[in-house]
Amino acid sequence: MDIDKEIINKGKIDKGKYTKYNFMNIIKNGDRKDIYILGIETSCDDTCAAVVRNGSEVLSSIVSSQDEIHGKYGGVVPEIASRKHIEVIEMVINEAIQKSGIDFGKINAVSVTNRPGLIGSLLVGVGAAKAVSFSANIPLIAVNHLEAHLYSNILENPDMGGGFIGLIVSGGHTSLYLVDNGWNIKEIGHTVDDAAGEAYDKIARYLGLGYPGGPLIDALSRKGDSSYIDFPKPMIDSGDFNFSFSGLKTALIYRTKKDKTLMSEKNISGLAASFQRSVVEVLTEKTLKAARRFGVKKILVSGGVAANSELRKEFLRKGGERNIEIYIPPLYLCMDNAAMVGCLGHHRYIDGRFNDLKVDVYSRSDI
Ligand code: KG4
Ligand code: ZN
Repeated sequence: MDIDKEIINKGKIDKGKYTKYNFMNIIKNGDRKDIYILGIETSCDDTCAAVVRNGSEVLSSIVSSQDEIHGKYGGVVPEIASRKHIEVIEMVINEAIQKSGIDFGKINAVSVTNRPGLIGSLLVGVGAAKAVSFSANIPLIAVNHLEAHLYSNILENPDMGGGFIGLIVSGGHTSLYLVDNGWNIKEIGHTVDDAAGEAYDKIARYLGLGYPGGPLIDALSRKGDSSYIDFPKPMIDSGDFNFSFSGLKTALIYRTKKDKTLMSEKNISGLAASFQRSVVEVLTEKTLKAARRFGVKKILVSGGVAANSELRKEFLRKGGERNIEIYIPPLYLCMDNAAMVGCLGHHRYIDGRFNDLKVDVYSRSDI
């Protein structure tokens, strides 16, 4: 039975189903002091490779962005994304190895995102990882993109234990997780329609700002008054931990259709800042409520939208007020990258959990 299908069907990982290599003996015998993982990430439109030493030192992290290409269409075109991955993947991997300053022969394992994401894009990364694994005779580790986002915080804080609420807020996902002391991850909420980053991208496209929308609206918001328009804060008091951003997007479109002056050069920064305030308020309040409900004192925020300046500021401010530790990775680890894939791969390596060359790709998958 296909290992990954089993993971997805059961919703939990059966450690016993993984291929066990003898590499653990090598570690135990102390022959190898350092562990080097090559990470590969191609789940959407960024082609990424990285080398991570001992799970926390990022020796190199290369990201080849396709933003400019997809910008013309106002969003990611899957067919183009996979073709571009094919064009650059080899170069990106070679550059990651070269920039890491280590010999390829030192790489202990290759870790790659195989779920969730665009099938055509995932296939390119997984195909490349299989080729590396086969030719270098090193283990292959297939990981979940969302779990890797959570691990972007572990890169910076390698000794961090479990017992926290994780918020993943990106272009494809907005989900809350309860992670217990044994690192068992349970989803406690998700968006019922658009992800927060998707709402940013759609609003930016509607306003004619460009793609990706998040950084553009973030920059515009810094010049505007966030109390300019009182937009709804969807599901802020819903009593569960789900999100919804589609209604907020519709509210902005409806308001600007009624009053076109809201999109004028003078007013657009206030419009953007007001939209952003609603998003930030909902994300911070619901995540902090989850921490209170489950009695945890730590929150880990990750994903592309975690790069948002207001979200970072508000999480840190509210966390300080409510005595909750807030962890948000540096900007280069918020957006899609392969360092987080290498970090998660390191932990799989230590556990001796490897995949064989038959491992497949999946467009949808929970952690
Ligand atoms: O994690 P990521 O790189 O890719 C996915 O897995 O989706 O996230 C990309 C998303 C895009 O929707 C982008 O607009 C958003 O992250 N984003 C931001 C900011 N920087 C990137 N959203 C708000 N503010 C930002 N500064
Ligand atoms: Zn992502």
